[in-house]
Amino acid sequence: MYAFSDGKQFESEISRVIGNIVNSPVVSTVTTNPDGLRCEVKLSDGSLACRFVLTMFPGNCGIVVSHNTYVASHLRGLGIATALQPIKETIARSGGFSYIMATIIADNIIQSKILPRFGWKILWEFINQRTTNKCIMWIKPLEEV
Ligand SMILES: CC(C)(COP(=O)(O)OP(=O)(O)OC[C@H]1O[C@@H](n2cnc3c(N)ncnc32)[C@H](O)[C@@H]1OP(=O)(O)O)[C@@H](O)C(=O)NCCC(=O)NCCS
Repeated sequence: MYAFSDGKQFESEISRVIGNIVNSPVVSTVTTNPDGLRCEVKLSDGSLACRFVLTMFPGNCGIVVSHNTYVASHLRGLGIATALQPIKETIARSGGFSYIMATIIADNIIQSKILPRFGWKILWEFINQRTTNKCIMWIKPLEEV
């Protein structure tokens, strides 16, 4: 058994939540490997509605990194990324992780709105020397309160 082996059980919940937002049936596919989980949600025409990826932090099986969150441009602003946020955290909790973290580029004001609403805190801010982007590391403990 690896951390994400129960990932498929979340497909129906994700389909229900996103289907309600787009007011149309969607198909959610969760694929897993020993170190990660990828979720893709497709509209009935087969086009991608949204996606997210969770990956175990290399060298520390207690931390999961949330990344590659994407919402199709014509579906933005409907609350999809906001609705996915607690689902990602539930999946991470069910996988036994203690912390969930993410990095964002500082000018991504949308993610900067979403994360603090769900109790995430800024861990550090830095300039990525490769890109010169200002980046923000966000983190949230996953233990039940
Ligand atoms: C970032 C992204 C995932 C947000 O998805 P989304 O489903 O549109 O987000 P939501 O609809 O849940 O919006 C969250 C908040 O941001 C606000 N928002 C959405 N689009 C906005 C915009 N263009 N400008 C300002 N605020 C915006 C929403 O109003 C909402 O705030 P509110 O609840 O106070 O109204 C999506 O824009 C995207 O895929 N962008 C490209 C990839 C990316 O940047 N991924 C994240 C990498 S860290």
